Amino acid sequence: MHPRTPTEYALRVCIDGELDIPIVASRFRAWAQRSGASTIDIARITTAAIELTTNVVKYAQRGELYGRLLETPRQRAIELIVEDRGPGIADVAQAIGERFSTGGTLGLGLPGVRRLMDEFEITSQLGRGTVVRALKRIE
Ligand SMILES: Nc1ncnc2c1ncn2[C@@H]1O[C@H](COP(=O)(O)OP(=O)(O)OP(=O)(O)O)[C@@H](O)[C@H]1O
Ligand SMILES: [Mg+2]
Repeated sequence: MHPRTPTEYALRVCIDGELDIPIVASRFRAWAQRSGASTIDIARITTAAIELTTNVVKYAQRGELYGRLLETPRQRAIELIVEDRGPGIADVAQAIGERFSTGGTLGLGLPGVRRLMDEFEITSQLGRGTVVRALKRIE
């Protein structure tokens, strides 16, 4: 579940419990603001980071969040990765669908992240963990 080198990512935040949710929110927002993304895009990307972090706390207890700015001559994007070594997701397609929740909540987090971001993919293995990668193109 760890195919990447964390040092490639400018931002890394450990997720160890619910007290880390506001810490992720403020650190992620402060970092994203330095990219020059619009206020609206920063709000969208930060919302995605908070939803994914909340899922880690609820379903996997701990994990990590990574962020980096991807720049080519033609476009810029913010990439967000949230990964954990928790229980994994049995049916990813079902989990991405609206209103599916094993936590007794709305089941709108993952479909919301998908809608907010331009790219979205989940890699998950039962008993091994989950990696969610999302990307948002910015101006
Ligand atoms: N990191 C994770 N590890 C294991 N299961 C997960 C993880 N993230 C999501 N899931 C599973 O996918 C389901 C859907 O996630 P989603 O965020 O859409 O909804 P929710 O967290 O249940 O509710 P909401 O986000 O609306 O409060 C979860 O109920 C859970 O079963
Ligand atoms: Mg959720």
